[in-house]
Amino acid sequence: MVDSTLLFHLSDIHFGLEHNRALNWVAHEVATRKPAAVVITGDLTMRARSREFAAAREWILSLHAPVTVEVGNHDLPYFNLIERFFDPYRKFRGMESVVEKELDLPGIAIVPLKTTVRMQPRLDWSKGWVSEAALDKCLATIDALPPGKKVLVTVHHPLVEVGTKGTALTRGGTKALAALAQRKITAVLSGHVHDPFDMQQETVNGPVRMIGAGTLSQRIRSTPQSFNELRLEPDGRLCVEARNLQDVPTEAMKIEDVPEDAMPPRAPGEPVAPVGAVPRTDPPVH
Ligand SMILES: [Fe+2]
Ligand SMILES: [Fe+2]
Repeated sequence: MVDSTLLFHLSDIHFGLEHNRALNWVAHEVATRKPAAVVITGDLTMRARSREFAAAREWILSLHAPVTVEVGNHDLPYFNLIERFFDPYRKFRGMESVVEKELDLPGIAIVPLKTTVRMQPRLDWSKGWVSEAALDKCLATIDALPPGKKVLVTVHHPLVEVGTKGTALTRGGTKALAALAQRKITAVLSGHVHDPFDMQQETVNGPVRMIGAGTLSQRIRSTPQSFNELRLEPDGRLCVEARNLQDVPTEAMKIEDVPEDAMPPRAPGEPVAPVGAVPRTDPPVH
């Protein structure tokens, strides 16, 4: 029987560089634990290739569970800039037949907020961007929900960096987070940084809980492959467990700050980039 209090939060599978043993394990967990939904917060593919999306569709279909997917920066065309400009979401739209757009579960709604854009006026297009239109759409969906419904907003990029010298990981993220705080949502679920976290972030409108899932790809940062198990307790609390194949306890899995990207942490004194390095347009580990 489906467990209506249980959600699986997965992220950054990066088909093309997926971790097969981890994916087999997650599929087995879905089959045996029967969560109400599987929420995937972006970077389904490595380079938005057709064969990578086909592998993603096949795996999602094999789960036999309701699945939502956010678009990640790796899911937009990387090699074909003409397609990226004119129809950046064409291949991602191919996922529509196997996933839910929004999910209205008993007591809880999952509402997407897009954090990718086709172009950015900065060198690093891997970072997030919340457009006015994307935020308005998300807020309108939340405002139309019946009162008392718990809301989980799903994004790919964390809306703000925490505890690090921020470099505007997500443009418009601070404003979006404040608007979500005003609506007293339960949490923002994100991916992109490849390590799990669960923290409260202050905004001008009060605190918001930010929950990040790690990666199920070969591109690990500082923790092994993992996904988050979210459980809605009878008292209304949302509990997070960062499940992983190595049985590392959740407390040891969670990172304490949200970095600007998924690059491995630098050793003290190590330079930010090698001397003479060109600015990255697509960091290898995201
Ligand atoms: Fe990403
Ligand atoms: Fe990623």
